[in-house]
Amino acid sequence: MAEKKWVLLVSLAFIMVMSPLSSRIMDSAQVLHLNMGELASMVLGKFQFWATFNNGVDRGTVESRAIGPNMTACHHSYGRPDLLVYCCPPGFEKSVPFVDFEFPDPRSPVKVRRPAHLLDESFIVKYNKALSIMKSLPYDDPRSFARQAELHCQFCTGAYEQLNYSDTPVNIHRTWLFFPWHRMMIYFHERILGSLIGDDSFALPFWAWDIPEAMPMPDYYVNENSAFFHTERDFSHFPPRVADLAYSTDKNHPHLSNDEQIDVNLKFMYTQMVSGARKTELFMGCTYRANDGYCDTTGTVEQAPHNTLHTWIGSSLNPGREDMGKFYSAAKDPIFYAHHSNIDRLWEAWRKINNRRLDITDPDWLDSFFFFYDENLKLVKIKVRDVLDTTKLGYSFEEVDHPWLNHRPPPSVPPKQARQMLKLKENKNPVFVSDFRPDGRVLDGIFTVKVLRPMKRERKEEEEETIVVYGIEVKGNDYVKFDVYVNLSDETKMNPKFREFAGTFAHIPGGGDAMKKKMKLKLGVSELLKDLETDEDESIWVTVSPATVSCSNVSIEGIRIEYIE
Ligand SMILES: *[C@@H]1O[C@H](CO)[C@@H](O)[C@H](O)[C@H]1NC(C)=O
Ligand SMILES: *[C@@H]1O[C@H](CO)[C@@H](O)[C@H](O)[C@H]1NC(C)=O
Ligand SMILES: *[C@@H]1O[C@H](CO)[C@@H](O)[C@H](O)[C@H]1NC(C)=O
Ligand SMILES: *[C@@H]1O[C@H](CO)[C@@H](O)[C@H](O)[C@H]1NC(C)=O
Repeated sequence: MAEKKWVLLVSLAFIMVMSPLSSRIMDSAQVLHLNMGELASMVLGKFQFWATFNNGVDRGTVESRAIGPNMTACHHSYGRPDLLVYCCPPGFEKSVPFVDFEFPDPRSPVKVRRPAHLLDESFIVKYNKALSIMKSLPYDDPRSFARQAELHCQFCTGAYEQLNYSDTPVNIHRTWLFFPWHRMMIYFHERILGSLIGDDSFALPFWAWDIPEAMPMPDYYVNENSAFFHTERDFSHFPPRVADLAYSTDKNHPHLSNDEQIDVNLKFMYTQMVSGARKTELFMGCTYRANDGYCDTTGTVEQAPHNTLHTWIGSSLNPGREDMGKFYSAAKDPIFYAHHSNIDRLWEAWRKINNRRLDITDPDWLDSFFFFYDENLKLVKIKVRDVLDTTKLGYSFEEVDHPWLNHRPPPSVPPKQARQMLKLKENKNPVFVSDFRPDGRVLDGIFTVKVLRPMKRERKEEEEETIVVYGIEVKGNDYVKFDVYVNLSDETKMNPKFREFAGTFAHIPGGGDAMKKKMKLKLGVSELLKDLETDEDESIWVTVSPATVSCSNVSIEGIRIEYIE
C-alpha cells in the first residue's frame, strides 16, 4: 500500500511537469483539488505495467470505483429537503438472489419506439390495456406500476447506500449515471408492459417535445377515461399549449404564443444539444465514483429540457409541483415514461452528432451497476456497459428529424454595434469583479460582471471554452432556475432565442443534507464567442439573470473561464 502511494506521488509529479493540465483554472489550489482523482486514475492506468514489472507482484491493478447500490441497505430518505419519504421495496433486508443481465434473443422482434403524436388508435388501446393491468397488480409484485414508480424514488432521494460504503447514498441525478440509469429503468418497464399483454414487440412511445408538431403534451395523456390520465398536473399546460422547454415558475416569465414558443424551443435545443454540449462532461454530467460523495456538475439536457419539463408538467397546487415536479414522485405520472423515452432518444442523437467520439470509456462508469426486476420476476444485475447498444437491447427509435440542428441562434444585436453599446455602458458603470468568495453573492437580482479570459496562448481547435459558475449553493426547497448571457448589450433581448444566451441552471432540490453540495454550472461557449465576434477579446461580460423567486435562496462564489480539452 505504502509503495503504491509512492508510485502514485512520483507519477503525479511526473505528469504535472511533463504534460499540460487537462483544464486550466485560475486558482491553482483548485487545480489539484479538481484533478487529483482523474490524475490518480490516469497515472495508475498508465503505470500499471511498471508497477507490475517492478517486482513481479501484480498490485498495479486499479481498484474499481464503480458505483452500485447495497440492496440490503435501504432506508427513509428526503423526497424534498422538507419531506421525509419511504420508498424501499418490501423485504429488502433479506438479500435476494439475482441473475446477471443477458441481452434479449436477437431473433425476437425489434421494438420500434414511435413518436407519441403519430400513434394510431389501436396502439393507444393496446398500451392503455397494458398500463391498466400494470396498475392493477398488487404492491407486492415488483412489476406493478406503484413499484416501478418507487424505483425512481429510491435512486434519486438517496434511499440506498453504496455497496462497501455504508454512509454514502447512491444518487443517479446530476451525475454521469443520469442517461444510463434511466435507460435501464424504462427498458425493463417496456418489457414488463409487453409481457402483460403477451406482445413482445410492444415499444414505449416517446414524446418528441423537441419537434414543433409534437411540442404540446400528447393528447392521450389528457384523456380522463384512460390509464394515462393523472390528476397531479398543471392543467393550464394541457394541449394545445406548447411545452416550454426553458420553463421557469416565475410569475413574470413571459407567456408566449405557440409560434413564438416553438421558435424559442428550437433555438434553446440547439444550445443544449449542440453548441453547449461539445464535450462529454458538458452533456453527460460529472464523473461520479464510489465513495466520491456527489459530483457537482449536471449535464445540459438533464437540466433543461429534462428538469424544466418535469416542473412544467407537475401541479402548481403542490408544494414541489408534484408529481412530475419532484423526483420522488415523478414516475407516478404515466407521462414520465414518454418523457424519458425522448431523453433516451436524445442521448442517441447526441452520440450520433458527435460520431460517438465523446462516449465515456472510463471503467468506473462502464462497470457501475443496478438491479431491476424483469418481466419474469427475476432480479437482474445490469451494468452501464450493457446498455450502450440499443440494437442489442432489442429496440430502436422511429426516425424523426432534428429540426433544432439548423436553428443556431443569431446575435440579438449586430456584433459591431454591440461592441459600441457595451463600451458606452462600461464607461458609465463600475467594473465588478467576478469572484465573490468567501461570502458568496446572493442571486436576488440580475447582475453583470466582467470575466477575464485566461492569458492567450496557442489553443488547440478542439478545446472548449467554458464559463464556470462555481460554488452554487441552493438553500431552499423550491425549483431554482437562472440563465446566463454573454456580452448582452440590450437587456430587453434577454431570450434563449438569441446567441447571447449561454445556458441555464435548472435545479430540482431533493434528498437530505447528505446529498447537498455546492454545485457548478459549466457552459461551453466557443461557438457562441465566435458568433458574437468576441473570441479575440481579453474579457467578456457575463450576465446572470434569476428566473425564479427561489434564487434569493441561492448564492454563488464566482464565475471564471476554463478550457476543456
Ligand atoms: C450492506 O448493508 C448491510 C446493512 O446495512 C451491511 O451490514 C453490509 O455490510 C453492507 N454490505 C456491503 C458490501 O456494503
Ligand atoms: C466491494 O468490496 C468487495 C470486497 O473487497 C470487492 O470485491 C467489490 O468489488 C467491491 N464492490 C464495489 C462495488 O466496490
Ligand atoms: C465583449 O465584452 C468585453 C468586455 O468584457 C468587451 O471588451 C468586448 O468588446 C465585447 N465584445 C463584443 C463583440 O461586444
Ligand atoms: C427560502 O428558503 C426557506 C427555507 O427553505 C423558505 O422558507 C423560503 O420560502 C424560501 N424563499 C424563497 C423566496 O423561495
